[in-house]
Amino acid sequence: MLVSATEMLKKAKEGHYAVGQFNINNLEWTKAILLTAQELNSPVILGVSEGAGKYMTGFETVAAMVKAMDESLGITVPVALHLDHGTYDGCYKCIKAGFTSIMFDGSHYAIEENIEKTKELVAVAHAMGMSIEAEVGSIGGEEDGVVGMGECADPEECKSIADLGVDMLAAGIGNIHGKYPENWAGLSFETLDAIQQKTGVMPLVLHGGTGIPEDMIKKAISLGVAKINVNTECQLSFAAATRTYVEAGKDLEGKGFDPRKLLAPGFEAIKATVKEKMELFGSVNKAN
Ligand code: 13P
Repeated sequence: MLVSATEMLKKAKEGHYAVGQFNINNLEWTKAILLTAQELNSPVILGVSEGAGKYMTGFETVAAMVKAMDESLGITVPVALHLDHGTYDGCYKCIKAGFTSIMFDGSHYAIEENIEKTKELVAVAHAMGMSIEAEVGSIGGEEDGVVGMGECADPEECKSIADLGVDMLAAGIGNIHGKYPENWAGLSFETLDAIQQKTGVMPLVLHGGTGIPEDMIKKAISLGVAKINVNTECQLSFAAATRTYVEAGKDLEGKGFDPRKLLAPGFEAIKATVKEKMELFGSVNKAN
């Protein structure tokens, strides 16, 4: 069931668990995530970066595929189709394409401009019944060409953006897209705590979910994180399972080269990763 992310995140924040956002790249990714959410009776958010949208030939294609797949598979758990790290133009494209949720990443603008553009997009998104995520501070590393320096968010600026009526707020707290380096300093819980105190009931978003240790995930949830984004980890598990299949020469046996067989181990690996994360985030059986 395609819905905005507003209700599921409100419930997650109140219930002290987090809903996973898993980024999609193609049909296999989408199907694996939808089926796992349904099997575990968990709400879920499908994240689409602008790069992935382009790869899938545009946001219209993505929205049509997700909507049709959601119906064909008989998915009854709440599913939000969400733009990840959207530009101002990208947000309008997704609003037009029929997404149910957008993220406007104005973190690279001066705070005044971030506020101004976020405010405009909040009004447009809400008029369309969509949810909207904003960002303050920045997520370190790189994701699909979006590069951040990883500066921790200023809690006062978080409050200014939260007060605009966004449905969820991503704040930089030392988190990084992609694999964490050996010398990573960890999440700044002091920053997170200060942000939660300023923003109250606002569901906070933890980007860079790949590779964050379990204890840090649990602590972040206890301090108000209600949405956790995972992208790289599904890519790594898909790649590893595909490698094992090919290295074992399975593609050379019988019809092992059939794409439906070749992609099957990677598909199962994504399902296993999504299941593990949903269990860790506490969203299992939280669909109703
Ligand atoms: P990872 O790729 O590090 O899991 O981050 C995902 C993310 O934050 C999507 O915006």
